[in-house]
Amino acid sequence: MSNITFTMIKPDAVRAGNIGAILQQITDAGFAIKAMKFTQLSMDEAKKFYEVHAGRPFYGELVEFMSSGPIVAAVLEKENAVADFRELIGNTNPADAKIGTIRQKYANSVGENAVHGSDSDENALIEANFHFSGRDFF
Ligand code: CMP
Repeated sequence: MSNITFTMIKPDAVRAGNIGAILQQITDAGFAIKAMKFTQLSMDEAKKFYEVHAGRPFYGELVEFMSSGPIVAAVLEKENAVADFRELIGNTNPADAKIGTIRQKYANSVGENAVHGSDSDENALIEANFHFSGRDFF
């Protein structure tokens, strides 16, 4: 089991001014920040990042939204990082997210859901390497 996961604070949460509150909740939950940047995905980069969803009906909307404004991308470290982070952020659909989770507090809809969290150790590495290179890690 790996101890890293990858997250993005999505354009909706950045626009709403929630970067600080979300990072605070993440570090309060015991995650250490290994790499982090404030950046914006181009449409092509968003398409590539979400390539696994290319066949889904929401793919176009997802790519459009994820490239619509700046994001915070970060690599987080903690024991059992992938599963614990998914617990912290809550269900993909904020309507089904447990009280106190990041999505329950800050997300608007299943599409504009405030944060991303990797769904497996394998994808955490792929996603971290998509955004960061060796010298970005501390
Ligand atoms: P994320 O964890 O970043 O990974 C895939 C994203 O697709 C997911 O968060 C949602 O934001 C988005 N997504 C999943 N289901 C839907 C849907 N039905 N409509 C719009 N977006 C969706």
